[in-house]
Amino acid sequence: MVENRSQSYVHGPVARVLHWLIASLILAQFVIGWTMPDVHRDTLPSGEIAWHLSVGAAIVAVMLIRIIWRITHTPKPAELAPALALVSKATHLLLYLLLIVVPLAGWANASARGWMVNLLGIVPYPALASKGSSVGMTLGNIHSVLAWVLLALIALHVAAALFHRFVLRDSVLQRML
Ligand code: HEM
Ligand code: HEM
Repeated sequence: MVENRSQSYVHGPVARVLHWLIASLILAQFVIGWTMPDVHRDTLPSGEIAWHLSVGAAIVAVMLIRIIWRITHTPKPAELAPALALVSKATHLLLYLLLIVVPLAGWANASARGWMVNLLGIVPYPALASKGSSVGMTLGNIHSVLAWVLLALIALHVAAALFHRFVLRDSVLQRML
């Protein structure tokens, strides 16, 4: 039996704007991350690498706002079968976790390379690791690997949204539009 219950709940405008803003920034960040030149010890943070740091700084700022907003504005849970509700909750939690850990690891790696991270060229972010720090350099590798895990999770998330829309034919996708 398909889940065809009428659900009139829609996430608030702020939550929806933050969701699609983050989705667009993350998409751009993947494209930049995989098309920018390889980063070596003597690489300078210019061109696409500078863009990766700027978009990254924006992701950090918007995620901070998003998390505060989410904690202070709990959405009404979608009406789902218990197993699906559990998988959905776990996926969203893991998405949030990676949306925090992946940027922080990238930022720490930038710091270890001696690169400044700032928001819109105006607000400087503190260094998360000292220049040359081996932990900061290792976090660069972790950043690259976890970016793939994040991409896989996003693919699952998008597939789930389309599954709701076209197979279960419920209104879960509409909650975020
Ligand atoms: C969720 C947000 C982010 C995504 C999806 C992302 C994605 C990527 C990808 C795909 C690469 C290339 C990895 C490779 O080819 O091996 C990369 C490299 C890098 N990113 Fe990010 N990034 C994000 C956020 C950030 C942030 C916030 C910063 C710093 C402020 C940052 C700094 C870096 C640096 C320094 C590298 C080079 C790492 C290395 O090669 O050792 N990234 N990122
Ligand atoms: C980079 C891409 C994306 C990321 C990082 C992302 C992340 C998230 C997160 C963390 C949530 C949980 C919201 C909360 O409970 O606070 C969420 C909800 C949602 N996302 Fe995405 N999302 C992305 C792209 C998409 C796309 C492309 C679609 C549609 C095809 C989509 C559809 C939805 C829907 C419908 C919900 C609400 C689910 C519900 O109300 O239970 N997302 N997203």
